[in-house]
Amino acid sequence: MIREGVAIEDPKHLLRRFLVEKRWTYTVAISSIILSEIVYVQFPHLLGEFTDLLSRGALSMALVTHYALELLAIGILYVFLYGIGQLLNGRSGRIFEYQLRQKLLAHWETLSTSYYRQRSIGDLLNHAMNDVRAVREALSGGANILTNSIFLLLATLYMTFTTISIKLTLVSMIPILFVPLLVIWWGPKIRVASRQVQESLSDMAEFTEESLSAIRLIKATASEEVEANRFSGQVEKVVHMQMKMIRRSAMFQSFIPLLGSLSFSIALFYGGYLTVYHEIRLGEFVAFTLYLAMIITPLQQIGFVINNFQRASASLMRLSTLLGAIPEIVDADDAVAMTNIHGAIEVRITVFSYADSHHPALQNVNFVVTPGETIGIVGRTGAGKTTLANLLPRIFEPPIGEIFIDGVDVRNIRLSDLREAIAYVPQDGFLFSTTITENIGFSNEEATPEELRQAAKNAAVYEDIMRFREGMETQIGERGVALSGGQKQRVAIARALLKNAPILILDDSLSAVDMNTEKQLIARLQQLRAHKTTIIIAHRLSAVLHADQILVLDDGELVEKGSHEELLQREGIYRTLYDLQQGEREVSV
Ligand SMILES: Nc1ncnc2c1ncn2[C@@H]1O[C@H](COP(=O)(O)OP(=O)(O)OP(=O)(O)O)[C@@H](O)[C@H]1O
Ligand SMILES: [Mg+2]
Repeated sequence: MIREGVAIEDPKHLLRRFLVEKRWTYTVAISSIILSEIVYVQFPHLLGEFTDLLSRGALSMALVTHYALELLAIGILYVFLYGIGQLLNGRSGRIFEYQLRQKLLAHWETLSTSYYRQRSIGDLLNHAMNDVRAVREALSGGANILTNSIFLLLATLYMTFTTISIKLTLVSMIPILFVPLLVIWWGPKIRVASRQVQESLSDMAEFTEESLSAIRLIKATASEEVEANRFSGQVEKVVHMQMKMIRRSAMFQSFIPLLGSLSFSIALFYGGYLTVYHEIRLGEFVAFTLYLAMIITPLQQIGFVINNFQRASASLMRLSTLLGAIPEIVDADDAVAMTNIHGAIEVRITVFSYADSHHPALQNVNFVVTPGETIGIVGRTGAGKTTLANLLPRIFEPPIGEIFIDGVDVRNIRLSDLREAIAYVPQDGFLFSTTITENIGFSNEEATPEELRQAAKNAAVYEDIMRFREGMETQIGERGVALSGGQKQRVAIARALLKNAPILILDDSLSAVDMNTEKQLIARLQQLRAHKTTIIIAHRLSAVLHADQILVLDDGELVEKGSHEELLQREGIYRTLYDLQQGEREVSV
């Protein structure tokens, strides 16, 4: 489906706009987290007071009840306030994730098929899942944890400074202040190691799969020993990577408690000293150690959040390039609606180069096709045949004023009409992992079963299909029957024939079928497309002998043009190709 000019918004702008839009939600969320921390830090303070009363022997049952209730109230209020903050942040993150996914999908639906061929679908999905998730996690988790940790830290510092001892706080906190630094520095190393473990595991799986499928070959060539050695190499690599990962995370996991105990030792030593010499009270000493225990985890989390932010910003960058890489091919502002195309084509290409190459893929290609003609395009590999075919439906964008259909520049035809008018079987024709029926009916959901069968018959693949147990309902692809190269080509042709468009392009779509089937198919095409424009790209000349015009491309240039007989007379490239293939045929017969 072709959308009209979906404007693509950079994910970074999207994020900025989202944050502005949700500023009140975030204000409420962050405020309630801050409030929750202010409540929470009262907890050690109260316990300190309690200890003092206890040590002075001034506790009464009424006071005990009072303190117990107060602690309970703190707990409830804390959970309530923090819960609100977390809920709001989490929800915002999900909403953003959803919006970003929507954007990606809308974008991918507008991309040309050639783009999908350059990047595998799996690769794209990977981006969608991992990168979008990383951004969401940083957004909701980050907002929660960062506000939480920073304010808890500030509140704790405030409480210890004002109610206990500045000196004690400063001295004993030194070791644990290294905790976030350690996380920031060491965290990525662990991640790298864990990714390497994953990679070596999947290498090993792939290796196993390959050897299993090549098992006959391995046995036939008596190379079991070689294979076994290669396999144990793979296993060693996995073990090595896992050991590395375990070493790294063990170091990490023991270092943080070490820093914590250092802080506690100092607090005990110096705090004990201050208590003994009555510079602080026992209750203050107890409260202080509680504060210390309280902030170790938040300090660790600050480090994790900073790492998460780094990862998320890399994801955001990747999403940006993913969304921005391919210039959109969209309708011109004054695009013409053309629902009744006859199939006249005029090509006047002076130069066409791909964006990433400075060698022209096509130059000086001029020809005219009247509606109903059959055109053959031949030429060596890399000559520019596929490029030429791609320019007609604007899979790649041709220069303005160089390609016309029914006299109108293709750049000015409404894209949906243009693509509706062209049935195109790409060179590496693409089938979905579903039933044959759905594959053929892809372009026309309303086709009746009879029409679908007829299309399969026209493409000379019906008999092959009937040999499968489930006939037209046979599943093909990853989870079903594997079709041969020639069968795939013919299913793709059936799909194009069903479309019954005024222009049909077959890009090397007969390369994998045998001579007989080719003959049969061409006879069928001649009948079916007698009054419709048909372009056949081929390496084997037998596929284009019957064409009204044959175009010979060489290194991007149109070097010869004419009917089969005319071209034979000219003694040029076509003649050479023909003689060569005749020779091959005699040899193979
Ligand atoms: N997407 C692309 N980006 C950059 N260069 C490309 C792209 N597609 C093709 N080319 C280059 O353009 C030239 C023509 O390629 P094209 O695919 O049109 O050849 P072809 O005649 O179809 O060859 P074949 O017979 O092998 O299919 C080649 O040099 C090729 O490397
Ligand atoms: Mg090609």
